[in-house]
Amino acid sequence: MSDEPLLSIRDLSVDFHTPDGVLSAVDHVSYDVYPGETVGVVGESGSGKSVAVQTVLGLTPTPPARIRSGEIRLGGRDLLQLSQRQMRRVRGREIAMVFQDPMTSLNPVMTVGRQIDEAVQVHTAVSDDEARARSVELLHTVGVGDAERRCTQYPHELSGGMRQRAMIAMAMANQPRVLIADEPTTALDVTIQAQVLELLETTTAQTQAGTILITHDLGLIAELCDRVIVMYAGTVVESGDVTAIFHTPRHPYTVGLMASLPRLDAAVQRLEPIPGSPPSLLHPPPGCSFHPRCRLGAGRERCRQEAPALRSADTCGHLAACHYSEEIHAEISRVEATTGSRLSQDG
Ligand SMILES: Nc1ncnc2c1ncn2[C@@H]1O[C@H](COP(=O)(O)OP(=O)(O)OP(=O)(O)O)[C@@H](O)[C@H]1O
Ligand SMILES: [Mg+2]
Repeated sequence: MSDEPLLSIRDLSVDFHTPDGVLSAVDHVSYDVYPGETVGVVGESGSGKSVAVQTVLGLTPTPPARIRSGEIRLGGRDLLQLSQRQMRRVRGREIAMVFQDPMTSLNPVMTVGRQIDEAVQVHTAVSDDEARARSVELLHTVGVGDAERRCTQYPHELSGGMRQRAMIAMAMANQPRVLIADEPTTALDVTIQAQVLELLETTTAQTQAGTILITHDLGLIAELCDRVIVMYAGTVVESGDVTAIFHTPRHPYTVGLMASLPRLDAAVQRLEPIPGSPPSLLHPPPGCSFHPRCRLGAGRERCRQEAPALRSADTCGHLAACHYSEEIHAEISRVEATTGSRLSQDG
């Protein structure tokens, strides 16, 4: 892994100003993406995963959103300081995004080929014929057979998996340095999901792009990611190498996620939901935002009063925001006994 991150999110805070008050969707979030690596972002619905990456792309609507703090560094610039016009140049060429549902991001009244041609032509001055040749080649690369004919078809004439491949072709059209995939395969059936993700992995490996993969599927994280960011209520509660996160988790929320969500890689089978629900971001609890649901903290005063900082856990680069992460073994053992599965490998 290279020493220099491609993309560096530093201390990012994003609020939404709503009629009911100010909602802190992303709160002092920092993470990096290095060349060629895939960073997985996990966390329950509403934890700020999408808002953070939308802000990276300059797609957060301001208002109602307001960027309260932070920097997003890409190639020596702070993206938060760029004009709309400058950001348009960054989007697509340097950072591209694959969305959850291609039907909402592909234009239904334009042929697939024309849309990929345009993605090519936005950033490179080439003739229509040259752009089309490149589009055919891109579709071919992403495994769409009969690419020339597919180019003349409209999105509704393609299957879901093929549309998602066309989206990836569009995203890769300009060999972006960073690829952001937000739940890219949720709308697809399982076998097509695997193919699309494999494709994402091989294309980014070829270009050494860095990838941010947002998913609820811990199995996919285990399979595809190098590092993992765990988000809870707008903050990063744990981050580290994928093996550290799976084998020596240091935050009780991460342990809870592993016990509550299915994993492709584990022979788990009994699942244990995390009690309660995520806090209201309009009225977050004092202290650690996870404390009302935490069995490890068990209502201890420090957890109720003091927000834990993200600090170094065991191995290098592994961070966790828990006052009692040294006691995590007790929580892991409890979950293992309840679910009958093995989470930790360091006993
Ligand atoms: N335009 C908006 N106006 C007000 N609040 C918003 C807006 N967009 C997002 N939010 C709030 O910001 C918080 C974070 O949302 P975000 O979409 O980032 O969650 P997420 O982690 O991506 O969830 P999911 O897994 O469901 O996609 C949520 O509480 C959401 O309601
Ligand atoms: Mg989301």
